[in-house]
Amino acid sequence: MENVALENRVFYPPADIAESANAKADIYEWAKKDRLGFWDAHAKELVTWFKPYEKVLDDSNAPFFKWFVNGKLNVSYNCVDRHAKSHRRNKAAILYESEIGKKVVLTYGMLYREVNKFANALAGLGVKKGDRVALYMPMIPEATIAMLACTRIGAPHSLVFGGFSPEALRDRINDCQAKVLITADGNFRRGTPFPLKQNADKAMEDTPTIEKCVVVKNAENEVNMKEGRDVWYHDLMAAAGSYCEPEVMDSEDMLFILYTSGTTGKPKGVVHTTGGYLVQTQATLKYVFDIKEDDVYWCTADIGWITGHSYVVYAPLALGTTTFMYDGTIDYPDKDRMWDMAERYGVTKFYTAPTAIRTFMKWGTEYPKKHDLSAIKILGSVGEPINPEAWMWYYENIGGGKAPIMDTWWQTETGAFMVTPLPGVTPLKPGTATNPFPGIEVDVVDENKNPADVGYLVVKSPWPSMLRTIYGDPDRYVDQYWKRFGDMYFAGDGARRDEMGYIWVTGRVDDVLNVSGHRLGTAEVESALVECEEVAEAAVVGKKHEVKGESVCCFVILKDGFEGSPELIDKLKKHVAVKIGPIARPDDVIFTGSLPKTRSGKIMRRLLRDIAEGRAIGDVTTLADPGAMQEIAAKYAGKED
Ligand code: PRX
Repeated sequence: MENVALENRVFYPPADIAESANAKADIYEWAKKDRLGFWDAHAKELVTWFKPYEKVLDDSNAPFFKWFVNGKLNVSYNCVDRHAKSHRRNKAAILYESEIGKKVVLTYGMLYREVNKFANALAGLGVKKGDRVALYMPMIPEATIAMLACTRIGAPHSLVFGGFSPEALRDRINDCQAKVLITADGNFRRGTPFPLKQNADKAMEDTPTIEKCVVVKNAENEVNMKEGRDVWYHDLMAAAGSYCEPEVMDSEDMLFILYTSGTTGKPKGVVHTTGGYLVQTQATLKYVFDIKEDDVYWCTADIGWITGHSYVVYAPLALGTTTFMYDGTIDYPDKDRMWDMAERYGVTKFYTAPTAIRTFMKWGTEYPKKHDLSAIKILGSVGEPINPEAWMWYYENIGGGKAPIMDTWWQTETGAFMVTPLPGVTPLKPGTATNPFPGIEVDVVDENKNPADVGYLVVKSPWPSMLRTIYGDPDRYVDQYWKRFGDMYFAGDGARRDEMGYIWVTGRVDDVLNVSGHRLGTAEVESALVECEEVAEAAVVGKKHEVKGESVCCFVILKDGFEGSPELIDKLKKHVAVKIGPIARPDDVIFTGSLPKTRSGKIMRRLLRDIAEGRAIGDVTTLADPGAMQEIAAKYAGKED
């Protein structure tokens, strides 16, 4: 065993999990024989419909697919009403803890009442079906309540990650023309309140469509409340009626918009709709995390990302699960905070990102060792490829060598898991997401769409929780995802298949970075840089990073008359962090006289990556000015930190 490379070791499903698992091996055959029948059965089992759909899939206007055609439903009804009216009435829906130790438990009955009241409050502010509502919130129960309240009245929400800058918030609000913004006074980060409302105020200086701003009192920090625009959440709730009839929504009505980075400077508003999203998010969670009635499930993702939407809020609540939420840093007051909470709440299913695992690894095993994590049955990983060393560390130190790791590959655009093992069925190998989920057709192909051992990751047929369009830009939807391989969805990732047929996702092959599991367009960072008066041109690449996976590395040409200096490096780094958000802060800024370009003027990022990572410079025969590379490499070697 010792001599087998980590990525070739095989871990078989533990007997107890295999025996009682929600998904057995025959699920693959069923879905293969009758793909649409498979989804049909799950739509009937997992969703309470107000009116049944007439057809599972309408593919007559590809790639604008429709799922569960003419079905009527409401997502908040599925997430709270049906549980509040059942034996789950007094079951914990949300267990919450804040960084400073505030604890909240909301049962399904309580959550039902809160959602109804806030839906009435929103309606009272003039929000109607179809109106967009922006959320800029910490990981607090009110965020979940607000999301569900939006779905109750049929108002699509657009969450903007709380770590994003005022400018990023402003641009996202203006793109979808949101009518109301919901935020909080602040939230605690390492014991000090982060001024969320102050950021929101800055954004709202230039958001003409915002009529009202609802503010949750969370950190009790000083805030300005603008007369006529700003209202306290608790005041609205005190006055709100207790029942709000759920809006009857069509399967294809918009559920939410979530902005994500693409290959241009402008983030894309990924549009998800109602029926298919609710079916696939639930089916995947039920089988992959093997959800049982007594689980305490913890997904550490922030609600501002798709993982938070699908697997903190919608899927767990629709399934009637108990979901744990934490708002705070992972090392406050000490580096065992996560394991302390996992022990205290008796967490059974734990889902996090490789970047977090690598951080825990660096801190050492003494922190998880302080706690009894024996309740954990299944682990999960998402956001980027997990390196086999991190996989093993996670398996041994968090899962106690008995909890299978579900490496789930998916995207903001896919809405739900696409490539993933099943805990009772799939032999695991460290570092691979293994097989497509039943009913999902994913392949690795070459440029000519032929199956290949190494190539591009594509989805060959529509799936229920797929994005439907880019908000306000259907042409970009077609161009971005359906042009390169025609009738196959192109995910932007490269992948390979091993001898077991398993899929190994190798990372983005487009101009998108993955920093700590967060997507960042190189063009977004470049346009932030060229805003600075000193900068003539910039090229940004991802550089391998031990903890973050990738870090931001910028090559910058200065305008005549400006000199590179440590102060300027600092200024540029700060500017990017302020413009986009702290996650985008570059690790490296390198001044250079020229950039490697093809004869058609395209920047050769591959070569810049080679330099950034200290590799030999690759093929430069297509460079317009091959000498440019030597100069850049020399500059990089002498860079100031
Ligand atoms: O490159 C892939 C990587 O994250 C990208 C999607 O990012 P985002 O839309 O922000 O969603 C992240 C959470 C679903 C993908 O194109 N990625 C995500 N999960 C994995 C992954 N790469 C390898 N293995 C994964 N399990």
